[in-house]
Amino acid sequence: MDKEVENFIEKESRRQLEGLELIPSENYTSQDVMDAMGSILTNKYSEGYPKKRYYGGNEFIDDIEILAQMRAKKLFGVSHANVQPYSGSPANLAVYLATCDPGETIMGLNLPDGGHLTHGWKVSATAIFYKSIPYHVKDNGRIDFDEIWRLAKENKPKLIWSGATAYSYKYDYKTFGEIADSVGAYHAADIAHVAGLIAAGVHPSPVDYAHIITTTTHKTLRGPRGGIIMVTEKGLHKDPELADKIDKAVFPGLQGGPHDHQTAAIAIALKEASTESFKKYGQQIVKNAQSLAKILQNGGIKLIGSGTENHLLLLDLVPILGVGGGVFAQDALETAGITANKNTIPKEPGSPFYPSGIRMGTPAITTRGMKERDMKLIGCWIIKALNVVKKYRLPQEKTERQEYITKARKEISQNTELLNIKGEIKSFALKYPVPGITKKEII
Ligand SMILES: Cc1ncc(COP(=O)(O)O)c(C=O)c1O
Repeated sequence: MDKEVENFIEKESRRQLEGLELIPSENYTSQDVMDAMGSILTNKYSEGYPKKRYYGGNEFIDDIEILAQMRAKKLFGVSHANVQPYSGSPANLAVYLATCDPGETIMGLNLPDGGHLTHGWKVSATAIFYKSIPYHVKDNGRIDFDEIWRLAKENKPKLIWSGATAYSYKYDYKTFGEIADSVGAYHAADIAHVAGLIAAGVHPSPVDYAHIITTTTHKTLRGPRGGIIMVTEKGLHKDPELADKIDKAVFPGLQGGPHDHQTAAIAIALKEASTESFKKYGQQIVKNAQSLAKILQNGGIKLIGSGTENHLLLLDLVPILGVGGGVFAQDALETAGITANKNTIPKEPGSPFYPSGIRMGTPAITTRGMKERDMKLIGCWIIKALNVVKKYRLPQEKTERQEYITKARKEISQNTELLNIKGEIKSFALKYPVPGITKKEII
């Protein structure tokens, strides 16, 4: 009935089908998950928790939420799971509310070094209401544990986050656990990026080393947008009331009614993530990322950490595009039909708005069925596209930037070499299905 919205959805479907989605935090969720998201469960209010609701009519909603909790506990091997957080950021905020008083000290990875906003970045509520002491990565992109030991000893934080949003190594949860224990802090592992890899057994689990685990459900886990907070045995040992504190922090501390359609969709995604085929999917994500890394390096692109141990690649563009070149790279890739995002690199010489890197990952293209041989093609397209914008340099003078970038953007969007790549990518991508989009519907 609403042609305007329908038209926009159709355009977005076409974009998702005809292009290559390399943003490492995105994925294509299954038709079953989308069916649950679009179901009548969206009509219901169910403030509270199963069997303890503030509204009537929740008999079946209770069953759904209990099922989602049980599946999360089984998949990740934890004692308690809260599946109500609306997304990853509210999940993380609930952890603060449950473990810290306002003004108390917390530690997380600095955002320009790959950390997430909610781990204490200065503009986030998590640094406004708590005292944030950020830690950093070393020149090679690895977390600087010597610094964390030192900062933890000096500042005695109440909460230490592990996990990041742009980190291409495996996380050493054991060392984080040891540091937190040495100062009596909670260790919260935010596994948003690697949850699907952990479920698939291709990344270590923090379950023995963290008190609390948070995750989004829509990245490598391939579910609907959402969040989960889990409490481990270790967490309950430190504080037997921790699960209760987490639940109270989510509701009534931060949220009202849970999104029951989302809870059902999370339950479905958790079941999917416990299958053999999901294990193969996780393995393939990493194989694809490593194979893409090799192609890019052979083509002269510098990678932070000289490769990847997970699903994510961080390209250091300083040698080919100069400081702040991420902006031209993102535009070039987009014109060519490749979606990735400009990103800061360790010791960023530019700024978060004009960063010198590009972040990319393989979860979404792996869902479409692409394998190592396809990475060769994709890698060559990326190298070609980046070479096209080699002539641009971000002006050092801030006042000159806007005009320069506007002009560069126009040229990039009309560049025939990039538009030719887009054509090639379109014919290639159309061979690989996207769940929920039939070619017939939109062509
Ligand atoms: C590590 C990490 N934690 C939390 C979040 C927040 O998730 P959301 O965007 O769903 O609030 C993200 C999202 O990018 C993330 O990368």
